[in-house]
Amino acid sequence: MDCAEIATNSRPLKGIVLAGGRGTRLMPATLPISKQLLPVYDKPMIYYPLSTLMLTGIRDILLIATPEDLPRFKRLLGEGQQWGIRIQYAVQDQPLGLAHAFIVAEDFIDGQRSALVLGDNIHYGANFSSMLCKASEFEKGMVIFAYRVSDPQRYGVIEFTDNFEILSIEEKPMRPKSNYAVTGLYFVDEQAPRMARELKPSQRGELEICDLQNWYLRQNALTMKVMDRGSAWLDTGTYDSMMDSALFVQTLERRQGIKIACPEEIAFRKGWISRSELIALAKEIWNSPYGEYLNNVASEFA
Ligand code: DAU
Repeated sequence: MDCAEIATNSRPLKGIVLAGGRGTRLMPATLPISKQLLPVYDKPMIYYPLSTLMLTGIRDILLIATPEDLPRFKRLLGEGQQWGIRIQYAVQDQPLGLAHAFIVAEDFIDGQRSALVLGDNIHYGANFSSMLCKASEFEKGMVIFAYRVSDPQRYGVIEFTDNFEILSIEEKPMRPKSNYAVTGLYFVDEQAPRMARELKPSQRGELEICDLQNWYLRQNALTMKVMDRGSAWLDTGTYDSMMDSALFVQTLERRQGIKIACPEEIAFRKGWISRSELIALAKEIWNSPYGEYLNNVASEFA
């Protein structure tokens, strides 16, 4: 059984990947194509957040993109059956905020719990999969993930006690109350779309995710998981941080001979696709090291 199905009586979490926005900080590279389709070392950026959802055991996913980019995502990912998952698509016409994703996804969510991941977020770590599995067992409220950073003023910032009791969440504060940033992964109960509808747009005209977090905090229903210091939450917001992320992935992959965020491998190891299906996927891209890697994974289980 997958972790998203364990323990609770509720149905498995539904997954949402938010991959819209204008990518203004990465122009001109993002003039013809969405940021989340740009490569981070050896694979499109979108593979990383998709892998995060898959590692949580989530197989029912909605990808939200701009009208221009949506056909490109479809071309890359199709309906997901090649990875044993189901991918549906929805349009966000304007970048109206991260919390707006829950409104766009309301029909898809269909009154269930869901996990929202930002299409440009890379989470990685030895214990991260089991942390995801445990976190996905929540029944009510919102679960957020915290990661220690040296530049918290660039992110949502969590202030908390020694017992991990959350005191406040502030979006990009000038004077951060801690070094812990909220990463772009949010698990929410079925109330999220309704609450997102009640939020007022901020000064920059967006439905802010921190306002949703603060609503759950006021209900005493916001919990956090701290990613441990050996794990990585990588940024792709600027040219430099994208390059740093690519180098991180390259260094680990070359040293260990494994791939980070390889959806085909995750699907295979979870038993969502068979060995012969994995070999068929490898064949489609046989002339690349990525294809060769898929073949190697398949041979390990020959
Ligand atoms: O990455 C984690 C951070 O993400 C959190 O710590 C912050 O609390 C959260 O607000 C968010 O901050 P960002 O400054 O990174 O948000 P940004 O507006 O850049 O949007 C993040 C991604 O989501 C980006 O790739 C574009 C996409 N996006 C954004 C908005 C506002 C959409 O697809 N639609 C939108 O409406």
